[in-house]
Amino acid sequence: MAFDHNDHYHGMLLRLVPRESRTALDVGCGTGRFARRLTELGMEVDAVDPSARVIESAVAASQGRGGPRFRCADITETELLKDHYDYISCLASIHHVPFGTVAMLRDALAPGGVLAILGCYRESTLADLAWSLAAVPANAAVRLAMAGRGEPSPAPVRQPQMTLAEIRQEAGVLLPVFRLRRLLFWRYLLAYRKP
Ligand SMILES: C[S@@+](CC[C@H](N)C(=O)[O-])C[C@H]1O[C@@H](n2cnc3c(N)ncnc32)[C@H](O)[C@@H]1O
Repeated sequence: MAFDHNDHYHGMLLRLVPRESRTALDVGCGTGRFARRLTELGMEVDAVDPSARVIESAVAASQGRGGPRFRCADITETELLKDHYDYISCLASIHHVPFGTVAMLRDALAPGGVLAILGCYRESTLADLAWSLAAVPANAAVRLAMAGRGEPSPAPVRQPQMTLAEIRQEAGVLLPVFRLRRLLFWRYLLAYRKP
């Protein structure tokens, strides 16, 4: 794969998986790269995406490996078992759905489970601009170093509408306690552990 900002943060997201987790859900799984990494930890993984094209690629890439259960579906129309998943991940997908979807993901977490959102935000402040400018040379250097290593992901992309401040405010309404921090490559990490 070519350098991908979401893949760059896989290691960080995997470190948030609670010990002895058995079940995981990856929302907006794209071609399934992160969902496959979760199955490598020995978990049963459900992976959902409404794009038939990416689900086809995901299934093809996972054949014969006892991989994730891929489902072509819109997460907002998917019935999730309550208190079920030990880990739920959303990699660059929460801005494709109303932010309120976080409430159904929160409810689907088992006690002690973790919701990890690697999100995209709309730049609106001078601080956003400064971070963005800082990311440009790092991005160029990594892309150069990884040039020729494959095609970019075919997963659908969308411009984020919410600013970081709006995300923090909305998350505060839906989650009792959470951590939110800005990451270098135009992303933030929001992590919530259910009591
Ligand atoms: C930028 S891509 C990220 C894909 C993947 N998570 C990755 O890291 O490569 C966003 C994904 O969210 C998916 N998506 C869009 N609307 C969705 C919805 N309603 N429910 C679940 N996933 C959705 C898109 O089809 C797309 O594959």
